[in-house]
Formats: sequence, structure tokens, C-alpha cells
Amino acid sequence: MKYGYFDDTAREYVITQPDTPLPWINYLGSEAYFGLISNTAGGYSFYKDARLRRLTRYRYNNSPLDMGGRYLYLRDNTTGKFWSPSWMPTRTQLDEYECRHGQGYTVITSKLNGIKSSTRYFVPLGESLEIWQMTLTNENASSVDLSLFSAIEFCLWDANDDATNFQRNYSIGQMEIVDEVIYHKTEYRERRDHFAYFACSENLAGFDTIREDFLGQYRGWNEPQVVVSGESTNTEAHGWQPIGSHHVKVSLKAGESKQVIFILGYQENPKDDKFDPPGSQVINKQRVKAALENYLKAENADKAFNELRDYWTMLLGKMQVTTPDEDTNRMVNIWNAYQCMVTFNMSRSASYFESGIGRGMGFRDSNQDLLGFVHMIPERARERILDLSATQLKNGGAFHQYQPLTKRGNNDVGSGFNDDPAWLVLGVSAYIKESGDWSILDELVQYENEPGSEKPLYDHLQRSIQYTLDRLGPNQLPLIGRADWNDCLNLNCFSDTPGQSFQTTTNKDGTVAESVFIAGLFVLACKEMEGLAKYCGDNDEVEKVTQAAAEMEKIVWKAGWDGDWFRRAYDDYGHVLGSKENTEGQIFIEPQGICIMAGLGVENGNAVKALDSVAEHLATPHGIVLQQPAFSQYYLHLGEISSYPPGYKENAGIFCHTNPWIMIAEAIVGRGDKAFDYYKRINPSVREEISELHKCEPYVYAQMIAGKDAPTHGEAKNSWLSGTAAWNYAAITQSILGIQPTLDGLEISPSIPAGWDGFTAIRNYRGVTYNITVTNPKHVSKGVEKVLVNGKQIGGSLIRADAQAGSGEVNVEVVMG
Ligand code: GLC
Ligand code: GLC
Repeated sequence: MKYGYFDDTAREYVITQPDTPLPWINYLGSEAYFGLISNTAGGYSFYKDARLRRLTRYRYNNSPLDMGGRYLYLRDNTTGKFWSPSWMPTRTQLDEYECRHGQGYTVITSKLNGIKSSTRYFVPLGESLEIWQMTLTNENASSVDLSLFSAIEFCLWDANDDATNFQRNYSIGQMEIVDEVIYHKTEYRERRDHFAYFACSENLAGFDTIREDFLGQYRGWNEPQVVVSGESTNTEAHGWQPIGSHHVKVSLKAGESKQVIFILGYQENPKDDKFDPPGSQVINKQRVKAALENYLKAENADKAFNELRDYWTMLLGKMQVTTPDEDTNRMVNIWNAYQCMVTFNMSRSASYFESGIGRGMGFRDSNQDLLGFVHMIPERARERILDLSATQLKNGGAFHQYQPLTKRGNNDVGSGFNDDPAWLVLGVSAYIKESGDWSILDELVQYENEPGSEKPLYDHLQRSIQYTLDRLGPNQLPLIGRADWNDCLNLNCFSDTPGQSFQTTTNKDGTVAESVFIAGLFVLACKEMEGLAKYCGDNDEVEKVTQAAAEMEKIVWKAGWDGDWFRRAYDDYGHVLGSKENTEGQIFIEPQGICIMAGLGVENGNAVKALDSVAEHLATPHGIVLQQPAFSQYYLHLGEISSYPPGYKENAGIFCHTNPWIMIAEAIVGRGDKAFDYYKRINPSVREEISELHKCEPYVYAQMIAGKDAPTHGEAKNSWLSGTAAWNYAAITQSILGIQPTLDGLEISPSIPAGWDGFTAIRNYRGVTYNITVTNPKHVSKGVEKVLVNGKQIGGSLIRADAQAGSGEVNVEVVMG
């Protein structure tokens, strides 16, 4: 069953029914000011950091699920009847409803009793504010007298403290209401130099800032007392729960329309210029004047919206494809790319499953996210790489996470996830392959954010490689540490105490448990490093990493190959995991993907063998599960992975992040049909048809789909913020369609379904636009017969970037065969 449809021309998903199986959300903002918004206007906003600078409140895990948002109420003052034009929170049955989620904006349109309203929510580029632009139309034959109320609840900045420290917080709330603008200035009197403001384009009939006055005692957002009575209280909050609500009276003649604009913004003042007049306790509002004047005018708001649209046309225009498959086209051209930008901005911090207070930016996550967005905004990928590497430890290891506001490593989570550093090599290499910007390797970057510790980024990469070599176990495989990619395979944790973190508790000294996954990742990282070192003329490093990779490969064949697939790990007792010897956890997906991506088994046939084992043991119609058989009980020596009921999350769930690794591996061995088949299984657009089962948004990937051992097989969770976005983007564009940036240029080597006649693509690469036409006259799934660049055949399938530099457009014809 569907709850909406894709409007590909408008690049929107259109939800036609408000009661979707879960709130189907979108993101506002692209640089510093961000918001989450659901299809019924739920959600919250923050500045840079969802934990430390939360502007509005949102209560997770509530019932109804999606409570708190950017609410508007309409009231017919003749009848007293009121409703939410976004359906929530009054849930009044609407005559018409439609929510359009686009890139960085959401428009909710509805109609009741001839009153049509359409509200567009977005954040203008470069601004720290959001606009709610509402158009009201009276489609009745007679005039109407309406009241419009806005309502948000302010968060007292630190979302964690706000949700827990009531003894203090109920006493500190402070507001100012000046010129009909509502200012939230809690803690501004002391150490904060920032405030929020909430303004409206119209003269007000009243306002509210005290939650309980607005709602009425013991009442909820579904029937606020003020909306019921039609009278605002015009009171100023002192402590308790500050909110912002404007009341606007709107009289509309038959057929008449009117626009009302609301602005919610965030502003900082210099420490010595906080108050106006100086010495007073009154906020200096100078810096918000221009924004208010500008964006409260409809034509300026429209202009800002059009700029946002153009910005996205530009970003998405960097890669556009036309394949015979509609689901592929819309995911590559619109939604997958968009999701990659969102994961870049949010990492794993704020979604409807990530509370914004739990996790900062993950080291391995952010490096992988790069794969999906680097072609759209290489300059910000550069900045991200430098931020990440500045948190790197001197021993080459990494803080597992850092806080986006401070850009410092997070001490609570610490380090010791032994795969982390290798991802930096992959991230940097992906950046250079895309941008050709070798200068990044010379960039001086601190270790552990310590002034004076600066070394070229290249040195960071060398230490990343060395980190693994310094930590080999009894089989000479890499020691796993707290965990590798699979955060839940905790082989040194041995936690028997409820509430302990599986990620940070370590009860073993960690000198035995080894990871075959890290071995594969290490070989891959060495191969990337080899390319970088060669270019830098560093022969010692070239020799070091080629040798290290070759040795590691040998070790994998000796200790990491099980006969039909790659093994997963060795536990603290030295026992193998991911082997036929095990009764549960016999085969895992991760080492199959990563080892084949590193080239292992491609020549000797073992890669195909491993992939056939994946197909036989792990593949389901809903995607490929993480391992089999699922763990039926908690195993002290395995950790969190066995804490999950079978079929969920890392315990044999379809952990979508890993599925593209298998797609890439299938493409490497030339099986385009298989690669594409796996691609389609988890493609959210394909799954739109089964939305009642899938539950999450049909336009973005979710982290997890319940596996075959779960009673709810096929049900997705944790949508939006997942490495799934970047890896699927990489799998489809670089491996299946085969348009692959390399250090020297664009390599085109598709692995597509044999049935395809071909496809076309437009790819902007290092400032040049490549118009690519791939034909497949012999209906093969891999193999390039010839490549013509501007009509001239080149040797091989690599289009050297230096040869094309400066050309505006290049026509490329690829004939498969
Ligand atoms: C989550 C984490 C990621 C990890 C994965 C598997 O997605 O963000 O870092 O690799 O889970 O445990
Ligand atoms: C939990 C999640 C896992 C995630 C980890 C991050 O263990 O199950 O997916 O990677 O937290 O710390």
C-alpha cells in the first residue's frame, strides 16, 4: 500500500494521507541552522549542534509518536471551529491534505470547509532562520473571519539538560516581547550570547509565551485553551515552559487569498555588545533587524526559496542518469544524493531515531559519508576531512566521535575501535579521486586538537596504516579492539552488568580477539595508500604498503578463509567466528564485501564462491541479512550483537549499510544482474509499494530492515542517518553504472543487467561536464569494447582528467561488449 507518490519532475515526494505508518520526515537547512520536519509539521530546530543548541522542544518516544513541532491552528471565528492545517496536533479530518517534501523544504497543503492553506517551510541559504510561508485562500462563496495561531515550544538550548534538569530550568526561562516579536533569551543574562526570535508578518491580535496559559491546565496541543476561546493571554513567561504563539486575525472575502509569514531565527551577539542599551539586561536586537525586514516580505521569501531550489538543481546536476529503471533514476538523481547531503550534515546526530543528544559525528561514519557527497561539495568534504583528522590520536588511532560544535573528540566514547583510522585513508583517497586536489595531503593538521602537534595530512594517513600494523594478534590478523565496523561485535567487552555500554566497557586486555573484516579493510586502505604514495614519490611508503597488503592477504587466506566464505573474527578465547565450525554466526556479510572490494579472491575464484554463499545463506527478498544463523541467546564473549532479538539490528537484521558492499563485489566479479538485483531489493522507491510493511519513508534508505528471523521481517527502522546512503550511491553510480572517479580521471566500466540496452549519464567531474552514453548491443553485463571521447577512440576505459582539463563539455560514448 502507498501513502503518496513520487513527483520526479518537481523532485518531491507527495504524501497524500497524513497518518503514514511512521512520521515521514524531511530536513530543513544546509549549513548551520537545521530542522527536522514531519509530514504533519512535527519536529524541531537547532543551530549547528542538535544537543547543545536546540531551539525548539521535541519529545521523543511520545504518544502520539510525533509531538511538538511548527504548529499552526486555524479558527473560524463565526463558528468557533478550529483545526490544524497540518492535521496534527488536532487531527481534525481534513477535506484535502497533501505534504510535499523537497530538498530542504516542505510544503503542507490542506483544505477544510472551503478554507485552503498551504505552508512552505524552509531555511534560506546562508541564514540562521526558518521561514513558514502560509497562503490562506477562502474558496467559499461568502467571506470568512479567521484566527490564525502559531505555536512552538522553546528548548532551553541544551536538549539533554532541558529534558532532565527541571529543578533549575523551571526557574530560568526569560522572554522579551518587543514590536510584536517574541524573543527567547533564557540564560542570555549570564554566559550565553545567543537568543531565538519568532516573528510574524502581520499585526498581532495577541500573543502567548507561557505554555500552560496557552494550552490551559491539564490540556494538550490538540485543544489549546487559547485556540478554543479565540483569545490570546498576552502574558510573558518567567520560568516554567516558554513558548511562542502569535495570534493573527484574517478576514477573507469570497475567493480572496492572503499570505502570512512567520520567521523563527537564531542570533548571536558579540560578548561585549549583548545588551542595548549597554549595561541594561535588554537584548541587542540590531543584528536581526535586516532579516526581519527582508524575509517578512513575500517577494523576498519567494526569492530566497527560488535560490534554494536553484542551489539544489546545481548540486543534483553534478550527476544525473537515465537508465531503463525508474527507481534507479529517481534515487540517483534526487533522493539518494539528497540523503547523502543530509547524512553529511547530520552524521548520526538528529533524526526521528537519533535523539540529537546521543551521538556526535562518527569518525568512521563521516569518512564513509564522504563517498556520497564529495562530488557535490568537494570543498566541504575537504573541511570535514581536516576536522576529522585533527581529532586523530598520535598513535594513529581515532576518537570514535567528535562534537560538531566544538570539533573536539568525544571523551565519553573514547577510542579503540580498531577499524576507525583505516577509513580516513579511504575518505581522503575518495576526496582526491574526485577533486584532484593533492594539496590536501600537505595541509598541516593537529593531532588530538593539540596546538604544536601539526603534521601534514599525509603523515596522518601513514599513522593510520601503522596503527593496524602495531596491533596484530595471535594469527597476525588485526586486533579488533572495542569493535570494528560492527559496533556490536564486542569481543573484549564481557559485560554482565545491566546498563553498561557495550561500546565503552572493556573487560579484556584485547590482545587476542582479531578481525578478518579489519584485515580486508586494511588491504583496501593499503591499496589506496599505495596510489597516494606513488603520486607523492614516496617509494618507501609504496614498498611498505604493498608488502603489508600482500602479507595481510596471505594471513587472510591462512586464517580468514573458511572454504566457502571469509570468516569474521577470532574471539578472546582464540575461537573462530563466522565459520562452519560455529553453530550460530556461521557466516557474516561484512568480510565477504570488504575482502572482495580489496581484491581478495577475484583472481582465484574464491570471491565468486563467497558471493554464492551470501546468496545461499544471507539473501532474502528484503535484502541481505548480516549473519546466519542468528544468535538465539546472549553470549558474554560476543557482546551487543547477541543482545538483540534474532532478526533485528546487528543480530541478523538486514543492516542495509553492508548490502552495497555485496553489490560492489558482484560488480567486481562481473555479475551485473546480481548486483542490480540486490540494489533493487533495498531500494526504498521499489519498496514504496509495501509501505505498510516497510513503514519508513519510501524516499530514503533506512539503516535496518528486519531480517528473516524477525517476526516483522521486512519492516524498516532508523531511516535517514545511515552509511547506507553513501554506500548505495557509490554502489549504483560507481560500480553498477560504473562511472568511477580515480586518481587519474574518470574510469567507465559498467556492470549492469544484461537486458539493458544501455543508459546515459551527465557527470560533472573536476569542472568538466561529461555527457556519457553507454550502449550495450551484445547484452553483456560487463566489459567495455571501446570508449570514444568526442568521437575519438581512446585506449582502455580511463578518461584522463589532465587530457580533458579546461574543456567545458565532453561527449563520451561507451560501447559494451
Ligand atoms: C551504526 C554506526 C556505524 C556502525 C554500524 C554497525 O550505523 O553508526 O558506525 O558501523 O552501526 O554497527
Ligand atoms: C548501537 C547500535 C549500533 C550503533 C552503535 C553506535 O550499538 O546498535 O547500530 O552502531 O550503537 O554506538
